Amino acid sequence: LGVKNIVVFASGSGSNFQAIIDAVEANSIDARITGLITNNSNIQAIDRASNAGIPSRVILPSQYSDSTAFGLAILDVLEEWKPDLIVLAGYMIKVPTNVTRRYRGRIINIHPALLPKYGGKGYYGERVHRAVLEAGEQESGCTVHYVDEDYDRGPIIDQKKVPVLPGDTPQTLAERVLHEEHQLLPQVIQQLLSKL
Ligand code: GAR
Repeated sequence: LGVKNIVVFASGSGSNFQAIIDAVEANSIDARITGLITNNSNIQAIDRASNAGIPSRVILPSQYSDSTAFGLAILDVLEEWKPDLIVLAGYMIKVPTNVTRRYRGRIINIHPALLPKYGGKGYYGERVHRAVLEAGEQESGCTVHYVDEDYDRGPIIDQKKVPVLPGDTPQTLAERVLHEEHQLLPQVIQQLLSKL
């Protein structure tokens, strides 16, 4: 069988990436993280990778003529890192179609809302939480789902709910949701890997 490989994509602080690193170190995920792909050279996620001895690669869409060429650059790196599972952990841009097609069923994303609500183009990071509050929702949460060509619309694997509390700001709600993300994401990863 052999050890399973995970590749993580992130764009920012990488707290979900850290939750995966910690779960691997605690043996609650039975795999190794073979690399981090980012679209931003100046982010905390890269420091988290180097602290954990994980290689990272910055791949900027602006350096490619189109989405296909950008995707081919990602596929090249993936060929090297041989993921059994790709995890989008706060990756804020669309993954090119040639990548999602090649890894269909083996690429998942965490989204900070109860999909299918508050997903799709324009709904990322803090904007999601602002929209939830503006709509007067009583609850929110996070969703892990498979990634396909349709932004935030792939099959849902698992969700966790949190209440929206009086006086919540996008920041306080984000924090409450993020806390659940850090539990849910490693749990789903281990569950999927155990079935591979
Ligand atoms: C997380 O809340 C994640 O769910 C969200 O960005 C945050 C990244 O935080 N992802 C999206 O909005 C994707 N559409 P992190 O970098 O600390 O893990």
